[in-house]
Amino acid sequence: MLQTLSELNNLFSHGEQMRFVAHPSGWPVLRVDTAQATAELHLYGGHLTHFQPRGQAPVLWLSDQSLYQSGKAVRGGIPLIWPWFGPHPTRQALPQHGFARTSWWHMAETALLPDGRAHALLQLRDSEISQTWWPHPFLLELAITVGEALEVALTMTHLGHEAVTISAALHTYLAVGDISKVRVRGLEGTRFVDKTTGGRERAASQPLAIQQEVDRVYVATTADCVVEDAALGRAIRVGKTGSRSTVVWNPWQAKARAMADFPDDGYRTMLCVETTAAPPYDTLTLPPQASHRLSTTITVEP
Ligand code: BG6
Repeated sequence: MLQTLSELNNLFSHGEQMRFVAHPSGWPVLRVDTAQATAELHLYGGHLTHFQPRGQAPVLWLSDQSLYQSGKAVRGGIPLIWPWFGPHPTRQALPQHGFARTSWWHMAETALLPDGRAHALLQLRDSEISQTWWPHPFLLELAITVGEALEVALTMTHLGHEAVTISAALHTYLAVGDISKVRVRGLEGTRFVDKTTGGRERAASQPLAIQQEVDRVYVATTADCVVEDAALGRAIRVGKTGSRSTVVWNPWQAKARAMADFPDDGYRTMLCVETTAAPPYDTLTLPPQASHRLSTTITVEP
């Protein structure tokens, strides 16, 4: 049962610094507005759609054509991909990238920390509907801490009786000034599966420049990525834990046009650098009662 705005605010607001407001879609969204940063967090999808440290341009890209419709993922921000990344491994009719990003999450707690950062914890548990897609009991916990840096941690706990195999991602859409001037450092020399060429595997020695569609699963990497953005005169560092693969995605012109919720020229101002446990090599096998924590820290550097 969804809570009303006033119920949510009675339980979880902290003055003007953390409070629920109505999004234009009608959905409740937690707005964070502190001395350090602003942010917006939807209960739908547990989806963080905005993060902006004071004095900076927004760090997360968000499509102005996002649909905000039940059953569709919001386009931009940080969609939570779970319990499968990409198409379902055996049931092709199931939604791409799992169901966490299209489920309603529950707010469990909020806090203003002594150092001024804002913290929120959301939860998602199995339901009758989730059991039809994924026949296992589970608990997902999403911890978000908003300060000068952004910390996002997804902890998955398997509550069933047999081991399960999971893939997952913090599918982070970063905002950039001009994609043609962007360089990504941190993946040089790392082998990747190139999904634009049917899964061919290779590595490149230079920092990555984006000049066409890019859809790559970098394999066996725990490295930070630094997205150098010459147009905005800044770099965004994406650090991570609990992840042994990184996905880099930009749909480029033709695929951007083909997506109803994506502006035709949107590919120029975004780049996904995703903290993943992504196939083909990086899946997680959880025995009963086991947990895994996938996390990212996103920092703006001069
Ligand atoms: C990326 C995948 O993570 O997500 C791409 O590697 C995919 O293949 C992209 O196109 C976007 O997926 P969706 O389902 O949000 O449109």
